[in-house]
Formats: sequence, C-alpha cells, structure tokens
Amino acid sequence: MAMKKLGKIFAELLREKGIYRIGSLSKRVPRRESTDKLQDIATVVLEGYGSICRLKTPAYIAWDLEGNLVHGAEYAFVHDRIAGEFEPVLTSEDLRKALPDYPYFIIDLMHWEKHSQKEKVKVALQAAQSYGVMRDYLWADRLAITWVNGEFKALANFPLDKITAYEGPTAEFLKERKIREVVLLDPRAEKELGPDDLTAGAFIIGGIVDTSGEKKGTTAKIGESLQSAGIRVKRRKITLRGDIIGVPDRINMILEIMLKILVEGKPMERAVLEVQAPLQARWRLRKELPKKKTRFLINGKKFLVVEKELFDEYSEWLNIRWEDFTKVLRELNFVALERRRVHHLKRISVPRVINGRVYYVILLKKAAMLCYNC
Ligand SMILES: C[S@@+](CC[C@H](N)C(=O)[O-])C[C@H]1O[C@@H](n2cnc3c(N)ncnc32)[C@H](O)[C@@H]1O
Repeated sequence: MAMKKLGKIFAELLREKGIYRIGSLSKRVPRRESTDKLQDIATVVLEGYGSICRLKTPAYIAWDLEGNLVHGAEYAFVHDRIAGEFEPVLTSEDLRKALPDYPYFIIDLMHWEKHSQKEKVKVALQAAQSYGVMRDYLWADRLAITWVNGEFKALANFPLDKITAYEGPTAEFLKERKIREVVLLDPRAEKELGPDDLTAGAFIIGGIVDTSGEKKGTTAKIGESLQSAGIRVKRRKITLRGDIIGVPDRINMILEIMLKILVEGKPMERAVLEVQAPLQARWRLRKELPKKKTRFLINGKKFLVVEKELFDEYSEWLNIRWEDFTKVLRELNFVALERRRVHHLKRISVPRVINGRVYYVILLKKAAMLCYNC
C-alpha cells in the first residue's frame, strides 16, 4: 500500500474534527507556488511554526480538504507569535501522534572525505534539496543523514534540526532503531528495484557526487560496511526500460523517484520520467538512436539515417524536446528523414555488406533522381 502524504493525514485529522475548510493568517503559508496547499500548511504545523486555530472572524481565502480554493473558513493556520490570541484546535503534537511509522530515507555520508571541496558543496546542496523533496511528499524527519560532520554542518544551508541528523555510522543508526534490513540504492546493483523491496525499514542513498568519475563502485562499499556490521542489505538499481542511462543520478532526484513510487504509487518508468531532465534524456537518446540507424552509401558518401518519426516514439518515455532530438542527431552525425523517404531510398538502393556492415548503396544517377521522387 502506498504511503500517505502528510497533507492527507492532516486532512483526515481535520475531517475528524468536523473541519472541512481552512485558511491562513500568514502570508507565507501556504507558499504561493505550492501545488499542494494542504501539504504546505501541514508541514509548517508539524515543524512547530504554528497551529490550526478557531478564528473570531472567518478567513476569506481558504482551501477545502482536497486543496481546492474556496472562500470563508472558521479555522486557519496561525503563527505561534500570535497564537495566544486564538483557540488552538490542531497542534504539532496532535499531528505528530497521528504519523505512521514510515521508513527512513538515509543519505549516507560515509564517503565524504573522498570529495573535492566543490563536490562537498554539491553534496550539501543536494542534501538541502532532498530536505525540500521530503517536505513535499512526507515530512522532514523521515530524512536521515548519517556520518554528519562539522564541515557538512557548515555547508548545509537548511535546518538540520528538522531532519534526523546523525553523527555516527549508518549501521549504528539502524541498530538503535532496530532496523535489520535495508534497501541500498546502487546504480551498479545486479537487481532492479521491485515491489518486494518497498517494505524495507530504510532506503539508503549514497551521499556521493561523482564529477570526476573516480568514485565508481563506491555505493557498493556502503553496502559492504553495513553487511559487515550485521545489517541485511538489498542492493537495488533504478532503471529506465532496463538501463540506468537516462536515470538522473543526483541524490535529491533519486529520493524524489523513490517517493513517487512509494507515496504516489507510480510505476518506476513514470517516476523516472517525471524527474528526468532533458540532459539525462539526451544521454539515453545518444545510446538508443545508433540502434536504429540505416547506413546509406550515396555516390560513395556515407550517410547514417534514422526515421524522423522516432522522435514521437522516444518522447513517450524520454523527456525530450525537438531541440534535444536534433542536438543528439548533430552530435552523432546522423540525418533524420521521414519514414516514407527512408523506405524509398531503400527501394532504389542495392544492399551490400562492406567490412561486415550492411550498406544501402545508391548510384549517382539514381541519387540525382531522389529529389524528384521523394
Ligand atoms: C551520483 S550517485 C554515485 C554513484 C557512484 N559513482 C557509484 O558508482 O556507486 C549518488 C547516489 O545516487 C544513487 N543512485 C544514482 N543512480 C542510481 C540508480 N540508477 N539506481 C539506484 N541508485 C542510484 C545511489 O545511492 C548513489 O550512491
């Protein structure tokens, strides 16, 4: 069963209390850009910034329990600074008591010292983004960061007291919480993440940024160290149609893919696609397009041709725009032609095997006719 978003748990509590719409007395809550207003309000209540209180006069702007904009609410989020003037009906403690015992999502900083200064800044930034992702889907303290040290604390530009920051080794953290089996997300794992892996007590992401390519295989070392401390480790990879190329590898993006699977119940491919940036989609396209090329030898000149319609096919499972498609074509030195043109060229050509490869050979005279026939 999918995990519940904090906003949903919050809505259930409000409903139990007979509250069906809420407003806010704070301009910053919920955030204007937020797409899930209830999640936003629930997050600040849980983190102890304020409570839901009964108002003396109804709030004009409000949201119903599905997050739709409505008007007029007798209850609203009230910041702690002014909460004394109001009667609280739902506090941080009330919400905390209603939280299920969900797994931890752990960023493991065991390899911190292997990073350059620039990379350390990136790890800290991705950790900060992970905090934001966690607040968008569940709640911040389910995010744990282990092996936290002074340097990380100085670089971490987000409230470490809202997450679970742990200075010791991951194995110790797990043992204290009686978690005996974990899923280690590892791009080099043999097995793909599957439905049986989703009930683990913790999901571990390597706090690793690998800009130099020198840290290949370091995630597996996290697994080895856990295993030697007696923790059962399932190493699993996230793939897109069977391949890790095209799956974003940033810590916060891996976390978001996991939360889309676990909280939103999305299949892995959908989850990857929703997080994938065109950059990673191009990586994959660079690998896929060569599988589809046809070699032509026109008047002695080699042309590598793919069908233009492939763009629509790949757009279904890669986040590519037309400009990404043409960029990759240019890089590969490929030409894209409409399917019917490729078929026509094949019809007027003679297939030949040259150096073990099939070429469709077209003679000069016929090539000159192409523009009339196509
Ligand atoms: C930038 S990656 C580091 C990978 C590292 N160079 C290695 O070879 O182990 C950072 C973390 O993201 C997670 N990750 C990245 N891509 C993944 C994938 N396709 N499947 C599972 N986890 C992945 C892993 O937890 C990994 O430790």
